[in-house]
This record gives sequence, C-alpha cells and structure tokens, in this order.
Amino acid sequence: MNRARLDMNENPFDLPVEVKRSILEKAVSLPFNRYYAEMGGPAGAGADRLAERIASMNGVEPGMVTLGNGSDELIMLNATVADPRGRIIVSTPTFGMYSRAARASGRLLVEVPMNERFEPDLSRLLEEARGPGSLVFVCRPNNPTGNLCDIEVVESLLRETGATIVVDEAYYEFCGDTVAHLLGHFPRLVVMRTMSKAWGLAGLRLGYMLASSEYTARVQEAKMPFNVNVLTQMIALEVLNRSDLVERSVAAIREERAWLARALDGIEGVIVFPSVTNFLLVRPRVDARELRASLRELGVYVRLVDDPPGYIRVAVGSRRENMDAVAALRRLVSG
Ligand SMILES: Cc1ncc(COP(=O)(O)O)c(C=O)c1O
Repeated sequence: MNRARLDMNENPFDLPVEVKRSILEKAVSLPFNRYYAEMGGPAGAGADRLAERIASMNGVEPGMVTLGNGSDELIMLNATVADPRGRIIVSTPTFGMYSRAARASGRLLVEVPMNERFEPDLSRLLEEARGPGSLVFVCRPNNPTGNLCDIEVVESLLRETGATIVVDEAYYEFCGDTVAHLLGHFPRLVVMRTMSKAWGLAGLRLGYMLASSEYTARVQEAKMPFNVNVLTQMIALEVLNRSDLVERSVAAIREERAWLARALDGIEGVIVFPSVTNFLLVRPRVDARELRASLRELGVYVRLVDDPPGYIRVAVGSRRENMDAVAALRRLVSG
C-alpha cells in the first residue's frame, strides 16, 4: 500500500530526476576529504559563497547571513545567545522547537495563549517582552494553525520593547508575506527561513537567518564552524539558481491546498481552518488521537497536535496523497 506522508509538512515534490542527476554529476568533483570546498571561505568560516548568494537574493550584506543545519539549529542558536537572565516568550499554540530550545538552553519560557481565532494576545506579549533580556519567537505564518498574524504584532514588539524578536518564516514562500524589509530599521529583528518546505530540501538540512551584523557575529561565535556540509552547500547553490522549480512547486501546492481544503470541508464532522501555508489544521468531531492511529492503519500519516488538543494537522500532499487522506477521513469520521 502507498503511504500518504502528511505528518511533517514536507514538500510532496522531489527535485526532477534530471536535475538531481546533473547535480550529482557535479558532486563527483567536490572534495569529500576537505572541511570546505572551493565555494567555502577560510577554514572556520566555510559556506561563504552560499551565504553571499542568500544575501544578494534577500538584498542584505553577507555579514547578515547565518546558515544552519536546518532552521532547527538556528532556533537553538538564538536561544543559546539569548541573555541568560531574560525569558523566552512564545505565543501558543506554536512550533514546539522554541520551547525545546528554551528548555535545552536553560532559559525560562513564557507561553502567551492566542485567542480562539488563533491571533496573538499583543498586549500580554508586549508586557512580557518588556522584561530585561527578553527574546520573542514569532512564527509567521504559524505552525500548526496555518494563519499569519498581523505585521503590526511584530512592529509593535520592535517599537515598544527592547526584546530580540525572532520571526520564523519557514512557510514564507507559500504566502509571500515577510518582515525582512524591517531588518534595516530594527537591529533587534531576526528573520529565519528554511529550504525544507517550499524548496523541497528537508533531507539536506539547510536553514538561514538574516539579522544585523552585530547579532550575526554573536550567533556565529556560538555556532560550530562546519555545521552545513559541503554537499548541502553545493546542492543549495544549484537549486537557488532554479527559482522556476520552486515557483512551480509552490503554485502546485497552493492549488492542491485549495482542493484539499474544499474536499475536507465537504466531510461531515470535520472543521478545516484557513491556511496560507502547505498544511491545514483540522478539528474532527471524533477523538483526534484515535483518528490519527486509525488513519495510520489505512496508510495515511497525519500529525496529532498537542496544543490545542483535539486537532490534527494535515500537510498538503500530491493529488494521490490528498485523495487518500480525504477518502480515509470520510470513512473514519462520517462513515
Ligand atoms: C515553523 C517552523 N520552523 C522551523 C522548522 C524547521 O525546519 P528545518 O527543516 O529548517 O529545521 C519547521 C519544520 O517543520 C517549522 O514548522
């Protein structure tokens, strides 16, 4: 039986085989015995060419770019460099890595619940963020809810507090909404992106972060020198030159998202939330944990959401995966 892998918010479309072949052909001349290849800089820095490429793509200086082994590593690095006396603040429900990074780095975590429409509680966020040495993670668009908070939330946090504001734009390409244009105005703003979602390179592990050169220098001090391997650097450079591929993939996923949302909406006993990402938050009338287990038996993998309880998260897959998910859900929820 084919599996529908809709539990990790991955891109259902791998690179075309001919693109992979030509990339791997080039990889043959890459020295595997060296810490950094010709695209790297001096020992210890590495990855210079890729950082320069990402900088020019985003209209910032290369000294404002940090590469990560996935943006997960960058989340951890932000927590590591945060003021040890300050608190890490998140608006919940949100991506679980922020609290994990706060715990792992021994920082105090403050969770500020969103309202029933999954909008952040700005006045409480401002109050908490005014504490000394605070760092706020803003997931925009938010995982697992799929919505995009108002840009005013980020602007107010920047204007009205002294906190470091880390905006995680992992799903940016699916909606095109960013706060990166504010980087020049606010040195306490950090923007994180990933190649795992729209660019379809989750298995290669590459995330990047844009921030002031002072903050970037601080993060680079805490970062291990060769955290992004030469093969990933090389493949990312090739793929970044193929923006046509990402555009096609994003267009297809948006179309599939509309199809999946409509199909799920047509199932009695299922509530689907609007999304600007590549996943949908779904509230079934049956027990979510049991539903996840029964879906698995039918070969459909979805994510059980811990917070809020009673929900599942379904990534937008290929048409075949989406059809399988809809058929299985229909059978289990309203059948
Ligand atoms: C909001 C958010 N940030 C970061 C990540 C991690 O991405 P990466 O694969 O770059 O570590 C994810 C992955 O699901 C995510 O949802």
